[in-house]
Amino acid sequence: MPQKVILDVDPGRDDAVALMIAALHPDIDLLGVTVTHGNRPLAQTLENCLRVLDWINAPVPVYAGASQPLLAFIDPARRNPTAIYQLVERIEGVMLDLPAATSQPQAQHAVAWLIETLLASDGDIVLVPVGPMTNIALAIRQEPRIVEKIREVIFMGGAVFSGNITPEAEFNIWMDPEAARIVLNAGIRKVTMVPLDATFAGYVTRADCEALIALGTPAGIAAGQLTLHRIEGAEMGVPDAAPIHDALAMCAVLDPAVLQDVRPCVLDVNADGGASDGRTIADLRPGVWGERQPTAYVALGADRQRFVAMLGEALARRV
Ligand code: BDR
Ligand code: CA
Repeated sequence: MPQKVILDVDPGRDDAVALMIAALHPDIDLLGVTVTHGNRPLAQTLENCLRVLDWINAPVPVYAGASQPLLAFIDPARRNPTAIYQLVERIEGVMLDLPAATSQPQAQHAVAWLIETLLASDGDIVLVPVGPMTNIALAIRQEPRIVEKIREVIFMGGAVFSGNITPEAEFNIWMDPEAARIVLNAGIRKVTMVPLDATFAGYVTRADCEALIALGTPAGIAAGQLTLHRIEGAEMGVPDAAPIHDALAMCAVLDPAVLQDVRPCVLDVNADGGASDGRTIADLRPGVWGERQPTAYVALGADRQRFVAMLGEALARRV
């Protein structure tokens, strides 16, 4: 039986690759895609999401969700959206370089659909948030009974060693730290964090991108070209390589062995508005947990070869 998945995205070039894997792989039953603000404002992430699914002809329902973080934009001294979008543009671009979307999003709001779908489920759905967690947090706050219905959350976000948007914080968590706190403290049965530590270990090279393009499929060509743009953004500070963060989290649903050095931890997020705002706090010290139980697993590495092979296998497919 394919694994039922809901993907929550903010496309974003790496989100686009995660979307194509989820939509194309026969071991995934992609029930729907919820869209959040993040890499771009919501109107643009939504259009980008539709562009990707149209490009590969995947008839997956798309639901528009939150256009703002819960709290972070209230104080311009804490977050300035204009400055944020300018900064992210270098790596993620503005609009994905794909034809304009012809499909339409669903009329229902993403949060309403998440609640309805999870409540009606048999507890067999994996949630994969790869942007700010605003939609998931709103759904949990509106209907806490969904928590026990979630089989697992595998999310891209956070950092143990080093952040990207600040020295300490990773972008997705930093964009909406309060939302991440709500989700990570909700008591979800299983949570797996795919942080920058793992996604940087699972980098892809220019040669890997060229091999994807050479597959000749719409998904292979788009993934290769979009990732070449990310390489030009020099996100890793080294030539000829880039992470495809969100695709690694998606691949972990298909094969957990793509993650390495996965450790239990007590996980929380700093949301105090100071220098560490948006930092994930992964307590990896079982010796001092005492009565506390681990609340999540965190992957500190990735099997790069396996990841690249999975990309090739998934993106060679057509609908
Ligand atoms: C994350 O932030 C976004 O820019 C990417 O799409 C990815 O989800 C990496 O920090
Ligand atoms: Ca993303």
